[in-house]
Amino acid sequence: MEHHRHDVVVVGAGIAGLYAAMKAGESADVAVLSKIYPTRSHSGAAQGGCAAALGNETEDNWEWHFYDTVRGSDYLGDQDAQELLVKEAIPVMYEMEHLGVPFSRTPDGKIAQRKFGGHFGQFGKAPVQRSCYAADRTGHAQLHCLYEQSLKCGVRFYNEFLVVSLMIEDGVCHGVIALEIRTGMLHAFWARAVMLATGGYARAWKVTSNAHANTGDGLSLVLGHGIPLEDMEFVQFHPTGLYPIGILVSEAARGEGGYIFNKDGERFMKKYAEAKMELAPRDVVSRAETTEINEGRGIDGADYIHLDLTHLGADKILERLPQVHELVFKFAGVDCIKEPIPIRPTAHYSMGGIPTDLDTRVLLDGRETPVEGLYASGECACVSNHGANRLGTNSTLEAAVFGRRGGMAMAEFVKEKGPVVVGTAIPTQHVEDEVAHYRAHEGKERASVVRGELQDAMQNLCGVFRDEEKLSKLVAKIADLQERFEHVGLQDKSKVFNTELNELVELKHMLDFCEVIAKSALARQECRGAHWRTDFSGRDDEKWHKHTLAFKEKDGSLRFEYKPVVITKYPPEARKY
Ligand code: FUM
Repeated sequence: MEHHRHDVVVVGAGIAGLYAAMKAGESADVAVLSKIYPTRSHSGAAQGGCAAALGNETEDNWEWHFYDTVRGSDYLGDQDAQELLVKEAIPVMYEMEHLGVPFSRTPDGKIAQRKFGGHFGQFGKAPVQRSCYAADRTGHAQLHCLYEQSLKCGVRFYNEFLVVSLMIEDGVCHGVIALEIRTGMLHAFWARAVMLATGGYARAWKVTSNAHANTGDGLSLVLGHGIPLEDMEFVQFHPTGLYPIGILVSEAARGEGGYIFNKDGERFMKKYAEAKMELAPRDVVSRAETTEINEGRGIDGADYIHLDLTHLGADKILERLPQVHELVFKFAGVDCIKEPIPIRPTAHYSMGGIPTDLDTRVLLDGRETPVEGLYASGECACVSNHGANRLGTNSTLEAAVFGRRGGMAMAEFVKEKGPVVVGTAIPTQHVEDEVAHYRAHEGKERASVVRGELQDAMQNLCGVFRDEEKLSKLVAKIADLQERFEHVGLQDKSKVFNTELNELVELKHMLDFCEVIAKSALARQECRGAHWRTDFSGRDDEKWHKHTLAFKEKDGSLRFEYKPVVITKYPPEARKY
């Protein structure tokens, strides 16, 4: 095993990871490990924008943004984190502008802003233009800028390195062990501070907007060290996934004025959110669409409905939504200037994750005890900005704000502690043995088959609507797949670019966190945000206004604890749009 030493190691190269690396890189020696080439990270697929109450196009202020984020989260978000998010949004957006993100512009040269679902002015009244955008390639623009700035700060990139283990002992993180995909060699990276920024994990569903790389690696890595996962039952379905596979059709399309219709040509959102219509939050719109489809009002009775942009005109579509235009043409053969787009809800974003404090320090007990030297930010983390449901364009924002905070916190920590000492006390042999065991895996099962069955089960049994029967079936199915995983045989025994081995490691991660999602969802007996149980009649604040914490015990079983939601200003109220 080759050994490396850095002050800071960041795992993942999306917006959160790169912002952290860049900030820490101003004073510390930083390495980024990414299993793919950094600019291929999934942040690059974020289309519509990044929220901040700049008030460039319509009157706005952070207090309205705060109120919307609290309500959007169905009152499960921690309000200290939410307030910090919306306040820091403003300076962070200007910092990104000055770093070189090529935002679209208003006629007088300010950052352009558009409407997005769930964002309103005057405490929930009229839609507001709050999402700062670069056409519909906002994440792409941010990702490339942060990559260039990280290089400028001297950050060292280890591309195509798959992290397979964390070196944690006695509550202290000393680094990570990673597999170099190109050679099949293992490397130990010793570091004073490690940040997990491994992104989302909706690849566990069959219909998803997520990239193939979004397999939740960071979550499963911490779970094995007794660190809990928080609020994993809350997974967001984006209302406009391109039919049939679920590629994102940006909510910017509705922000710019697009309508959705059922087979009868009815703008059905008037039945579900009379005031806010297509700009209601995503959980509300996805449920409305699924209800229309389930009740036979999908187009031609099939399981999709229509998003219509034709009234926007070619100029607006090509200027503001060029990627939407291109994607739906390439993947569905539809010219959205002339015809409606077939869409349905698609698994998109995970509100839960690795519990952290406001400085992104990972919490060993999920409450207040940090693991020394371990940080997490972005979609894999749960500082609980989004609670039970995230508002569109608050995710690139969270990645930037909390990635940045984490980078600064790690730089401080390194200053305090001094450089890391490469230790021999932490056993690494078990990781070599585990990888050798994976390589030697013999058996008739195929990883692709087990993964496909997992994705089908998550799709059918843990979707927009859930109930006890479906979730119990899912729990049993996952147990069966975990057993079958032990009999997956590897056909490719080589070391160089063994993608079959990578997929096996990723499948193990997916099975781990899907078990947590299924059991957390089965336990939560209420409807809140993206978690909608048809066997319960609504939100139950008395019993369920609390966060889920799922711990993995030594014998492999899961144990649940719950912790209170931080309320600073807005106690739970009924939510109507
Ligand atoms: O619809 C979109 O452009 C996605 C944005 C988001 O998830 O925040």
